[in-house]
Order: sequence, then structure tokens, then C-alpha cells
Amino acid sequence: MLLNAADYREKARRRLPRGLFEYIDRGTEDEQALTRLRGSLDAVTLRPSVLSGHASRYIGTTLFGRGLPTPLVVAPTALAGLVAHDGELKLARAAAALGIPFCVSTQSVTTIEVIRRAAPDAALWFQLYVWRDRALTADLLKRVRASDCECLVVTADTQMSPNREYNQRNGFGIPFKPIVRNVADMAVHPGWLLGVMLRYVLAGGVPTYGHYPPEFRSAITRASVADAVRLRTDLSWDDVKRLRDEWPGKLIVKGVLSVEDAKLADGVGADGIVVSAHGGRNLDCLPSPASCLPAIAEAVGDSMVVLADSGVRRGTDALKYLAMGAQGVMLGRLPLWGLAAGGEEGARAILSMMLREIDTAMGFLGVENIAALRNPARWSVEAVN
Ligand SMILES: Cc1cc2nc3c(=O)[nH]c(=O)nc-3n(C[C@H](O)[C@H](O)[C@H](O)COP(=O)(O)O)c2cc1C
Repeated sequence: MLLNAADYREKARRRLPRGLFEYIDRGTEDEQALTRLRGSLDAVTLRPSVLSGHASRYIGTTLFGRGLPTPLVVAPTALAGLVAHDGELKLARAAAALGIPFCVSTQSVTTIEVIRRAAPDAALWFQLYVWRDRALTADLLKRVRASDCECLVVTADTQMSPNREYNQRNGFGIPFKPIVRNVADMAVHPGWLLGVMLRYVLAGGVPTYGHYPPEFRSAITRASVADAVRLRTDLSWDDVKRLRDEWPGKLIVKGVLSVEDAKLADGVGADGIVVSAHGGRNLDCLPSPASCLPAIAEAVGDSMVVLADSGVRRGTDALKYLAMGAQGVMLGRLPLWGLAAGGEEGARAILSMMLREIDTAMGFLGVENIAALRNPARWSVEAVN
């Protein structure tokens, strides 16, 4: 029975090749950021208003001028298309069925155009990794605009390639290399091998980053193209300002952890920020989002939309971020575990489970809506047992 996020994670672990599962699941270096951000969420408590007399709760909210039935957003996750065949299409449809926006990663397997065609009614956002070649990045943005994406999420915390030593050990990487370790890993996960990898191969080739130039896949031209689409190490606020001028929709900066940077984002005209530690996947000495969020929300919450992510595994985790000042919460690994465990239906089921958990906890807390949660008197931090 799949009753909570841990159940889905365990099913995902059994179904996916080890290299792919670890790529999704783990952190970076000694995984202290990952442990810390989970610990910081566990330490937050929420105080109820008893006997509040509310018979029902409304968990809808407004983000960037759009009324939404929930405060959740599916975070951008690279290579979701490897977790299930057409994984990004499945995530888009699962999220759309619940009115949840889906943020497509620059590093998705399936392109934004194909995702849009498969989910015409979805609220699609797009996450941008700025490539070294500005002209290629500009072309990508044109495609995103033509695909009717509401929000552009510029990731600000991935200017270096993280030290994920386990990926070196297990051989996972893109472009996919059929080395002995990978082949053996796939062979002991036949469900994934036949249901995901083989279906891609039969349809035309080994899956890779769909938005990258076609030459990226070819061994011959790869070196030069790989350089053009390497993530910029020198990304600056001037780049965000330039993107602000170019992008007509909402602009969000993802990966902000200080009041100073939040104010800079506000200053260049961003519409929102994501207070995020990238799920503990990039820099191992980062503070936890829960420890940074209240001051950031206090400083810029009136002028920008503040979202938060990292470590959400329960409805109550999302409520904690909302109580501490976030207006919306992104989920990264959680929908991927649902997708791995049960495809589109699994992704929808895990998101529905989160919504049920949110509703139950709001009932216990005696809050009628999300706005009633956002109150400094509602939360505190206690030592974890
Ligand atoms: C497998 C995986 C791939 C990711 N790829 C991206 C990405 O392409 N761009 C990005 O901005 N964040 C990426 N992230 C980070 C998520 O957007 C999000 O910040 C993080 O997963 C939130 O933490 P959680 O997984 O604990 O919910 C990725 C996360 C995972 C787990």
C-alpha cells in the first residue's frame, strides 16, 4: 500500500536503476544540506486555534495574479522523462488534473512544445538554465514564449557542477553511456529497461536533454556544442535584468537564501523568488530554507511573490513553509517518486495525497484558508527529539 511519501520513495527505489534513483534521491558531498533542511522542517511546530468552528477549509491561493486551487507547484526536475516513459508529459497532465502548475526544466527529456501539445490546458512554467551561448539561450526563450508558459523561473544557484560523488561511482550521466555498470544496473531493473529505456530506443534513440541542440547527442560534434550549452558560471543580476527586459511574462529567481539577494531580485524587477536549497543537491554548506524564509518574506513579501522548496515530504511541511511566509510551495522529488511508482496515475495520486494531508492538518489547526496560516504567532521552532 502506498500511504505516504516514504512508501512511494521505496517503490521508486525498487523500480528505478540505482544510478537514476540516487540521482533523484540523494544530495551532494556529505549530504549535510539535505539532512539539515529536513531537520529544520522537523523542528518547526504549528500552533492550532482550537474550537474555531470551521466546517471546511479552502486551500486555494493566488500566485502571480492567477487563482489556483492549491498552493503547490511541481518544481523543475531535469530528466523526469527518464523516470517514466514520457515522464514530463505525465507530470504535466497529473499536475493539470489538480490545477497545479508544472515547471518544465531546461534539462527535460521532452521539449516544451511537445509537453504543451500533450497538456493544452496545463499551467506551464519554464525553468531556465542560462547557457554560455546567449544566442542559443535566446532561441530557447522564443520557443518557451510560443508555448504559452506563464512564468519563467531563472535558476540562480547552479553556476557550478555539484560534487555528486555517487553519480561518479554509479556511472549515471548525460549523455547516457552504455558502460558495464549502467548496463548491469538496467538489467536488474527489467520493468524500467523495457517500459522506459527500450521504448525510447525503439522510437528513435537514447533519451537526452530535449532542448539541447541535436548535435549535443553526437559523439563527433559534442565537444563544441557541449561547451555552448554549458551553464554560465558568470551569471549576474545584469543577466536577470536583461531577461526581465526580454521576457514579457512573470519572472522568478530560484535559489535565493538571503534578504540581500531577495532585495536585489526585487530591484531588477523580478515578480517572485524561490527560497530554495535546491533540495540539498548543490552546495552542502547551505543554510536550510526554513531558517532563511521568515526574514526574506518579511523583507520582500509585500512586493514580490515568495515561494519556498526543499525537503517537503508531508502536507504539514508545506504548511510550515506557508506559515513562515511563503505564498506557494514547490515539490521536487515527491512527484518524481509518484511518477516512478505509478506513472501519470502515481504522480496524480501522490499530489492528491499531499492535498489531503494539507486539508487534514488545516482542520486540526483550525485555519480556514492559507492566508490564516501566515502568522508569526502560528509557528515556532523546537528542538527535535
Ligand atoms: C532529480 C532532480 C532534478 C532537478 N533538476 C532541476 C533543474 O533542472 N532545475 C532546477 O532549477 N532545479 C532542479 N532541481 C531542484 C528542484 O527544482 C527543487 O528545488 C528541489 O528538488 C526541491 O527539493 P525536494 O526535492 O526536496 O522537494 C532538481 C531536483 C531533483 C530532485
